[in-house]
Amino acid sequence: MSLCDDARSAAREILSHDEVTVISHIDADGIAGEAILAEALSRAGIIHRSVFVRQLEPMTMRQVPEDSTFKLFCDLGAGQQNLLEERGLRDDEVLIVDHHVSQPAGRAYQQVNCLDHGFSKMSAAGVAFIIAMEMDPGNVDLSRLAVVGNVGDMMAREDCGLVGPARDIALQGASAGCIEVVSRDLNCYGTSTRPLHVCLAYNDDPFIPGITNNVNGALRFLQRLGIELQTPEKRWRVWEELSPQDKRLVTSSLVQQIISCGERADRLFSESYLFPDEAARTPLRNAQEFATLLNACGRWTRAFVGSSICRGDRGGAYREAEHMLNNHRAVIRELLEYILTTGVRELSHIQWIHVGNRYPDTIVGIGAGMALSRLNMEKPILVMVEQPEDPGLTKVSMRTTERAIGRGIDLQLALTTASAEVGGAGGGHRIAAGAFVPKESEEHFVDRVNQLIAGQLCTEGQGNR
Ligand code: C5P
Repeated sequence: MSLCDDARSAAREILSHDEVTVISHIDADGIAGEAILAEALSRAGIIHRSVFVRQLEPMTMRQVPEDSTFKLFCDLGAGQQNLLEERGLRDDEVLIVDHHVSQPAGRAYQQVNCLDHGFSKMSAAGVAFIIAMEMDPGNVDLSRLAVVGNVGDMMAREDCGLVGPARDIALQGASAGCIEVVSRDLNCYGTSTRPLHVCLAYNDDPFIPGITNNVNGALRFLQRLGIELQTPEKRWRVWEELSPQDKRLVTSSLVQQIISCGERADRLFSESYLFPDEAARTPLRNAQEFATLLNACGRWTRAFVGSSICRGDRGGAYREAEHMLNNHRAVIRELLEYILTTGVRELSHIQWIHVGNRYPDTIVGIGAGMALSRLNMEKPILVMVEQPEDPGLTKVSMRTTERAIGRGIDLQLALTTASAEVGGAGGGHRIAAGAFVPKESEEHFVDRVNQLIAGQLCTEGQGNR
């Protein structure tokens, strides 16, 4: 059975029900996935409602309604089939649409999971889109949301663009005229909304000495090139607004700058995914910034606002999301400063910090990822934060780099193993993973994760010999 075969039988199953509940995750991929499924259900005339959860865990399982509706779990569920089983959910009332690693349970629920078909660079929204297309090929416009989910879950990061079936979705959207796929674009976040010098300075992949983390340095670099940085009205121009010649001038000068520092310039370019129908200089214009907007909603308990934007609301929901985005950015900046000024504790193979109850557990992973480029990038970062609803429980987020993954590091494996040993639970991906652990086991847990990461590097080294 191929991924498409699985999607086809899932579509058939969904279409056979009168009432469906979608249970999805609060991040960009979860919201985009939910919106794809909700829109496809609406178009098919099926009654539906949605529930968003921070993670599927015993406490949030209570949000899953105990009724006769068919339950569609999106961007979660694969790793928590034991919880579905404990709830007493039958095989014929559940479908899991996921891209996380499955954890064995007594009952194997019907699942469409790209990992089962060897596709690791695909998000839940991507899987949801393939199902939506099997429900009705007229759903091709939802490809935009699938691309937002894929990009938001970092599926384009390692290869500087989407690959495999995730890229096929982007191309389908391009053929239908709703996505512009730009090859060899500047690999930089904020090309639709940030002043160009800020956009360059905030980018750390690739790290460009004199420009990365240096707004004035980036400004001087562009001024020396003679680029018109402001409009006649004195508004800073964004990358998207530059002429093709100016874009070429900037990228070729950046290449020289990187090469002169002995670094590789290939990561300066990436394929980007733009939405030409959206208003210029808004975060809705490109997949990366759209995904941040959704994260800003979901991680601050307004996932439904994000979902409404995905489904076309450009009025009240969009205005609310803009506020959420400003707040999201401000708190993450503050968290980043907190991590950098407080400092992390370095063990032999990881670095870690406990931020107490200062920040919500939903954003510490994002802050950790951003802090990494200013810390020792060789060692994965682990951040612990108190759980407000349950002080006996600690939330853990870990982030690492593509380079570390290449050396054999797998954060998902380290966190699921170490958290299970102390009676907690974890999951995620090689590059970004999370867990919940009992508070009293924090110290032991950190040491154990350090030990497991050391073991992963060791095993990889032996394998390479
Ligand atoms: O919460 P955070 O952003 O650190 O999560 C990183 C990744 O780990 C996400 O894909 C999330 O779904 C996953 N995760 C998980 N189980 C947890 C916590 C996080 O699968 N208990």
